[in-house]
Amino acid sequence: MMPTDGMAGKGQTVGFANWYDEHVVPRFIQCACSSPAIAALREKVVPLASGKVFEIGCGGGINQPFYERAKVTSFSGMDPSAKGLDYTRAAVAAKG
Ligand SMILES: C[S@@+](CC[C@H](N)C(=O)[O-])C[C@H]1O[C@@H](n2cnc3c(N)ncnc32)[C@H](O)[C@@H]1O
Repeated sequence: MMPTDGMAGKGQTVGFANWYDEHVVPRFIQCACSSPAIAALREKVVPLASGKVFEIGCGGGINQPFYERAKVTSFSGMDPSAKGLDYTRAAVAAKG
């Protein structure tokens, strides 16, 4: 709902902040967290996960290819970013 009084400026700021959080931040995280250096660390650490995995801040789904299917019996994740969760769902689907 758009504000109708002197709050118009604040409403626009909040609107921009929401848009920025939903569209810019997830893409930025996706890009920044996909560097080869970080991927090398993921390759060492993520395959150590086993059993029921719960990833706090799973947005982006970049860890998905590194989880070992034979060791991980179930995966759950949470993230405040709807777009980040979209990326995660796509990564899970791509993994099959
Ligand atoms: C640096 S990214 C890492 C994403 C992923 N775990 C990875 O390894 O690529 C941090 C994630 O934490 C999420 N996040 C931020 N605040 C959070 C909170 N309070 N609870 C859970 N996740 C949060 C962000 O939306 C973002 O997706």
